[in-house]
Amino acid sequence: MVRKFDFLVIGSGIAGMSFALKVADKGKVAILCKTQLEEANTALAQGGIASVTKATDKFENHIKDTLIAGDGACDEEVVRMVVENAPEQIKQLVEWGVDFDKDENGNFDLHKEGGHSDFRILHHKDSSGAEVQNSLIKKIKQHSNIEVFENHFAIDIITQHHLGQIVRHTTPNIECYGAYVLNPKTRRVHTFLSKVTMMATGGIGHIYQTTTNPPIATGDGISMVYRAKGLVKDMEFVQFHPTSLYNPADNPSFLITEAMRGYGAVLRNQKGVEFMYKYDKRGSLAPRDIVARSIDTEMKIAGCDYVYLDVTHKPAEETKEHFPMIYEKCLSIGIDITKDYIPVVPAAHYLCGGIMVDMNARTTIKYLYAAGECSCTGLHGANRLASNSLLEAIVYADKAAKHALSIIDTIKINDRIPLWNDEGTSLNEEMVLITQSEKEVGQIMSNYVGIVRSNLRLKRASDRLDIIYKETEDLFDRSVVTKEICELRNIITAGYLVIKMAMERKESRGLHYTLDYPTKIEY
Ligand code: FAD
Ligand code: SIN
Repeated sequence: MVRKFDFLVIGSGIAGMSFALKVADKGKVAILCKTQLEEANTALAQGGIASVTKATDKFENHIKDTLIAGDGACDEEVVRMVVENAPEQIKQLVEWGVDFDKDENGNFDLHKEGGHSDFRILHHKDSSGAEVQNSLIKKIKQHSNIEVFENHFAIDIITQHHLGQIVRHTTPNIECYGAYVLNPKTRRVHTFLSKVTMMATGGIGHIYQTTTNPPIATGDGISMVYRAKGLVKDMEFVQFHPTSLYNPADNPSFLITEAMRGYGAVLRNQKGVEFMYKYDKRGSLAPRDIVARSIDTEMKIAGCDYVYLDVTHKPAEETKEHFPMIYEKCLSIGIDITKDYIPVVPAAHYLCGGIMVDMNARTTIKYLYAAGECSCTGLHGANRLASNSLLEAIVYADKAAKHALSIIDTIKINDRIPLWNDEGTSLNEEMVLITQSEKEVGQIMSNYVGIVRSNLRLKRASDRLDIIYKETEDLFDRSVVTKEICELRNIITAGYLVIKMAMERKESRGLHYTLDYPTKIEY
């Protein structure tokens, strides 16, 4: 079946939904998500959104903190633009119904997180993301121009390649005409044609064994764009959140927000000794890369699987009031955080790199925008400052919307696109091994491409991934298309890009730390 829309939005997180809301008065919008509207990284965010909102804080301070965390790799013009646009976008979220916590004087109740020099994180208790996700879903459902396609899986974007032309990374003016989309229930692949497409597919957490990300985070958008010969960058900068709850039964790992350290919680080793000052004068509130690496070192020294986060010295009622979801979750596995230390371990959390975009969220492919975690804007550089991600997503969705609205009347839908061709494919017995291959990729990435890297580890990862890549591509060519095999391909592509870019970086910077080049190259 062929469907036609003015705007095709792939992804129902903060980036996709806010873009959709901003363009929907102008034309027909389709939002695709591969499971339910609710399942997105956005919905799991705890800490909140960073923005300068009080008189005593300054844009310059937020800019400076972002640049310091980014370790010399941020684009300063982008940082300034995002920080200065933040208050307006916060206002927009509030107008859409997002209820940020306020103090008794009616001012925003602001939290502080690692690397921030001031209290500037707007939040809704410790479930800020769910508040944003639910508010946006409500608005989306009220808009008559927006059609939602749940359980629809975008396989690939459509370009001149599908018209039989040879497209390379060097081909000028690659154009996007929409996407091929699988409905896994019917096993049918539909052609979604659009004037403009927004890629908002989120992160890559599930290329690793242990991650805070929901299962949708398999790097689909990044892989689709890479296959379509769009540019992708900075993939080596994978952020490991220092404090996910150590509970091997959980997948994804449950996050213990950094805001808890902002509130006063401290990290302790297995002997109960506070250790972070050994590594950084900011202690437990140092930027994430430093804290995650320090925990990794402490775990290696002691030969243990976790360290502790201690919030027991804070008033119990206040702790429960600020962090009700974390309190309940820990209690459910027998940990009363007001009395017990919380076992924590770093987990893959966020990708700073991704699809390269300009300041209007345009990718290198015409009529294709990208926003949110799948994009690389230059805001985060080599390491993202806490709570700058939701902010980046909403600011860039706004930029993309404004730009798309300015050109939409000049674009015609391309009607010459062939239908998906699955001639000669079949449901293959080898497909039962897909889950196994996925697990292997996770092991390779976690064992060799984690917090501490080296030439040897990266080479080993590359060699092993190559075997799975060849097996999978061969299987893909022969098999009926399924969500599972598409996700496996995407996980492999995203893993390959992380390894390749990690190998190319001959220094340690921000989130990329390698034993072979432990220092930073001065630009
Ligand atoms: P997502 O919210 O991840 O949405 C992705 C969407 O794409 C989903 O709807 C999915 O179904 C869809 N999709 C993916 N692939 C396909 C496909 N092939 N076909 C169709 N649909 C597809 N950031 C902050 O700034 N502050 C925080 O406090 C914070 N806390 C976090 C806590 C946790 C536990 C996690 C995991 C992340 C946190 N982050 C935080 C990061 C932040 O939540 C994410 O970076 C951000 O929400 C990403 O939003 P997004 O719109 O780009 O993508
Ligand atoms: C957290 O709450 O610690 C996560 C914040 C973020 O990822 O920005």
